[in-house]
Amino acid sequence: MKYKEIIELLNKMTIEEKIGQMVQIGGDVFLSDDTNGMLTGPLKNLHLSKKMVYHVGSVLNIIGAEKVKKVQDEYLSKSRLKIPLLFMDDIINGYKIAFPIPIAQGCSWNTKAIQKMTEISSMESSIAGANVNFSPMVDLSRDARWGRVMESIGGEDPLLGEIYAKTVVKAYQGKNLSEIGKIASCVKHIAAYGAVEAGRDYNTVDMSEREFRQYYLPAYKAAIEAGAEMLMTSFNILNGIPSTVNQWLIQEVIRKELGFKGIIISDYGAIEETIAHGYSANEKEAAKNAINAGIDIDMMSGIYANYLKDLYLENQEIENKVNESVLRILTLKNKLGLFENPYGNTNEVKENTYLMNSKNLEKAKELTQETFVLLKNKNRVLPLKTNKKIALIGPYIDNIGITGSWSMFSDRTKNGTILDIFKEIMGSQVLYAKGCEILRQEEINKILSAEGLPMVHVENESQKEQDMIASAIQTAKKADVIVLALGEHYRQTGEACSRSNISLPENQIQLINKLYALSKPMVLILFNGRPVQLSTIEEKLDGILEVWFPGTTGAKAITEMILGENNPSGKLTMSFPQNVGQCPVYYNHYNTGRPHHKNLRYVSRYQDIPTESFYPFGYGLSYCDFKYTELYLNKHKMNKNETITVSVKIENQSDYAGYEVIQLYIQDLYGSVVRPIKELKAFKKEYFKPHEIKYVDFDIDIHMLKFWNEKLEFVAESGEFKVFVGGDSVNVLEDKFELDFY
Ligand code: NOJ
Repeated sequence: MKYKEIIELLNKMTIEEKIGQMVQIGGDVFLSDDTNGMLTGPLKNLHLSKKMVYHVGSVLNIIGAEKVKKVQDEYLSKSRLKIPLLFMDDIINGYKIAFPIPIAQGCSWNTKAIQKMTEISSMESSIAGANVNFSPMVDLSRDARWGRVMESIGGEDPLLGEIYAKTVVKAYQGKNLSEIGKIASCVKHIAAYGAVEAGRDYNTVDMSEREFRQYYLPAYKAAIEAGAEMLMTSFNILNGIPSTVNQWLIQEVIRKELGFKGIIISDYGAIEETIAHGYSANEKEAAKNAINAGIDIDMMSGIYANYLKDLYLENQEIENKVNESVLRILTLKNKLGLFENPYGNTNEVKENTYLMNSKNLEKAKELTQETFVLLKNKNRVLPLKTNKKIALIGPYIDNIGITGSWSMFSDRTKNGTILDIFKEIMGSQVLYAKGCEILRQEEINKILSAEGLPMVHVENESQKEQDMIASAIQTAKKADVIVLALGEHYRQTGEACSRSNISLPENQIQLINKLYALSKPMVLILFNGRPVQLSTIEEKLDGILEVWFPGTTGAKAITEMILGENNPSGKLTMSFPQNVGQCPVYYNHYNTGRPHHKNLRYVSRYQDIPTESFYPFGYGLSYCDFKYTELYLNKHKMNKNETITVSVKIENQSDYAGYEVIQLYIQDLYGSVVRPIKELKAFKKEYFKPHEIKYVDFDIDIHMLKFWNEKLEFVAESGEFKVFVGGDSVNVLEDKFELDFY
């Protein structure tokens, strides 16, 4: 459609039809027999009139060619102007093929791998009828208590956040949104959702504007620059005003300053929640606040549907704002080619041939391996020697539930289990015992009852637990090495899964302790959605392989990795805390006036734990041994137009080939405002043959030295800087240079 035609269409619309475009509901209503689906369904609470249902502009979480067509047909058959619906979904880590959860993808430090995973996911979703995906989540995440860190692709680092945001948005959208395989990206959540106080989901965010601009805003900005079509607001308040109605955030920062021209959608029910926040006095005021802030689409609160018209009748100027929003929505529908073909690229035949195809599954396995982080490898326990007898123990060994809490659409039939794959490769050399449940039923019941769900009673749970441990001990006794697969329950991570205890479940710790008494080498494969507390169990383990929730091909990827067919290369994007009391802990913090020194009392420290994180940002081992030497700067002074080239010698001192992520950090030693002790400024992922030596270069330019100064200007200041290069944020070589505006 030409722009002129879109305007003509807009001019034909009644105010109700326009408002309808700004309303999003669950699409099931169009599949229901209950004529308008509102009498019994979830829409009852939204109080929508039947007329309004056939005006709505978009639906969420309807996917699959057949369903999408049915919903679109039903809608169009009763809609006057036949403006197609937009289908929006949460395809967070893949559609039918579940890829590793976002935090894991980020640990690959490989934008090409992330791009490829996103492209496959985008192709599968587009064929299945999705037009918009509520992804990526680029909220900077420093607090492991927050359940949603599992979705944070950049973890605690603003540079990773920026780079990955760009990568993912471009991979979803490509150059032409109407092409098969391309869908619009809805980047979330503006803004600073990751900074919820105490890591409790939906909680308060209050931070200085400098902090916000320096660390939290860059990823959203990068996504906008990459052309993201949509943004979703966050549930939190930001400095006293809910994000969803925050005019400073939406109008001043997002629209004016960052020049965002796309659609802004509220999060689920978030317009209505401004009342509970204590900001809007009632639903009508919530509608007014949201439209004034510039929210184009109300996701699932019914507030726009029920109150925008009243506001319009009181003040017709509101129609200008409505027109702006509707124009954005129609423009996106047009870019997606929906006016020509309301089904988009959805296609049942292609669904049958493309979804879960073997080429993509093979690729997925390869990419998944890049997301694993080897946290410990004492005495080179890994890779396992295949002539040994291996006891596989733990509830994740014979378990296909390793796709994470967001993968509601994934096809689990192809998820192998670690047990199956090990047996295929090693036959009778492999022994198995479950050892324990992931979580005691009494713990699961606590989660269920808090959510008002029915609890499940298990007879003699503690006796069963003892029996399982006893059988695991018997199994382990017959083996040379124990491989444990343990971790969080998938219901413990994700939205609304904040936790004040981030240790492994007690029953799992008990299992580890009992097996430790056998004095056999023991390796842990760790399944989780957040940095967990490992300090109480780490010493008992010889090897720890962090695999997060690795998705459809996870079991195969893990097995091959621990048998040495592949070599770990992932690095952490979030620091692992010593314990939960240390949260939030992150590498790019400021110094204090009393930095921690041994043997001093009045310094910034905890009495009972080290100041440093348990595993630092950027950390991850390999089967290779990489040695860093000869840090070299081609000069030690630069002006604003110059660059300094930093080079470092890296030697792979092992017989393995593998990848290493070489990281460059900078510290601005003195500034008009204080600067962090280290900030990641560049990285490279390089392949090394056995015993290969490489010299790796980075260029430092003035853009890497800029920050928000005391006047909130983004500048570099002359002075001294430290530069660090290493394989993580702690073990680094360092030197100094000077920036001088001569
Ligand atoms: C709420 C979540 O915060 C958001 O990330 C998600 O996309 C929406 N629900 C839609 O399901």
